[in-house]
Amino acid sequence: MLSYRRGQLFIENVDPELLCRSFGTPLFVYSKQQLLVNYQTFKAAFSGVAQLVCYAVKANANSSILKTLADAGAGADITSGGELYRALRQGFAPQKIVYAGIGKTAEEIEYALKENILIFNVESQEELEQIDRVAGRLNKQAQIAFRINPDVDPHTHHYITTGKTGSKFGVPYAKAMEAYATARRLKNVKIAGIHCHIGSQITEVEPFRLAAMKISELIKRLEAEGIRLQYVNLGGGLGITYDKETPPTPQSMSKAVLPVFKGFKGTFIFEPGRYIVGNTGVLFVKIVYRKKSGGKNFLIVDGGMNDLIRPTLYEAYHDIVSLKENAGDKVKVDIVGPICETGDFLGKERMLPWLAQGEYLAVKCAGAYGMAMSSQYNSRLRAAEVMIEGKEFYIIRRREKYADLVSNEVIA
Ligand code: LLP
Repeated sequence: MLSYRRGQLFIENVDPELLCRSFGTPLFVYSKQQLLVNYQTFKAAFSGVAQLVCYAVKANANSSILKTLADAGAGADITSGGELYRALRQGFAPQKIVYAGIGKTAEEIEYALKENILIFNVESQEELEQIDRVAGRLNKQAQIAFRINPDVDPHTHHYITTGKTGSKFGVPYAKAMEAYATARRLKNVKIAGIHCHIGSQITEVEPFRLAAMKISELIKRLEAEGIRLQYVNLGGGLGITYDKETPPTPQSMSKAVLPVFKGFKGTFIFEPGRYIVGNTGVLFVKIVYRKKSGGKNFLIVDGGMNDLIRPTLYEAYHDIVSLKENAGDKVKVDIVGPICETGDFLGKERMLPWLAQGEYLAVKCAGAYGMAMSSQYNSRLRAAEVMIEGKEFYIIRRREKYADLVSNEVIA
């Protein structure tokens, strides 16, 4: 998506300097084409089976991104009433919406039931009872799957490891049969499937295969009890290359997991987020000042942890490049934001030219969990977002204004 032409960085066919000057920085820029390619590639990898690809809205919930995927036929994996609202608004069919999350409130459950979503991925006994109660009150039957915690290590950052014993997610593997037995006795829920999501930014195929084997084992045991499932949901989690990782392709993931379910006649559901949107987005920032201090070189830029918290929160690596290919000798620099915390950095010890004030940097692979996790910390305005479509580009979220900072506040 990014390439140098005659020494100048291009994002597809567009000059990012023009975008930065027109829209200001920090600026998220996405490629519509890459978004669609990612979605189609993922889908194609599982074309041999009945399948539904539900984009994990949490990765990037911008309306234009959602609309692009809804128009392409994708389903949505949601985790709150707010995400349901966004998904419905952009045209996702309710029958392609699946709802996970350990803390669904009665109000959120009611909203989802009234909209007739496909499946609730249930994470606890109390949640199951709540869904049954709300569905009964509405005279409806809720389709459910249990999210099972298979106790598999996905070898990723511990904050985004979700399928190991001790995590707050899902029903413990050993309690799965009991959970289904309880659900069977409830009038207002209908057992439809099984779900698991073991973590995010997974860069090996083996954890997916191990989780699939555990789920497949449960399906067999459930069948022996006369419970036949229509949906197997294997969650999201497929990693992307930020640095030197070599994550499995959707194709190799497909080859590893599908044979495990040989004989299963239902529909497979997947919930990719990062794979769909991660590499479609770039965050552009501008150098405000340069500074040498304590033997270190700092490039102080106008975007920080409030725009992209991943480096701060997970010590995540995002490649950072200059808009000019040969802008001078490279030095070791820390690229830091304007926020009043030492943890506010976008990159540490990177080799970059000692660029001038006012020049721009591109922070790569910022499409997933970038804008979605942004905040107004330090009363900073959230960045603008731009979509590139061929030679065209257009704003898909306006930069916030100072008035936005206080618009919901009330003085007694
Ligand atoms: N399904 C469920 C139930 C999830 O909890 C998640 C992500 C996904 C699907 C999508 O996972 P993906 O395909 O994007 O890996 N903020 C973190 C990532 C948090 C992931 C949370 N759950 C980060 O920036 O790395």
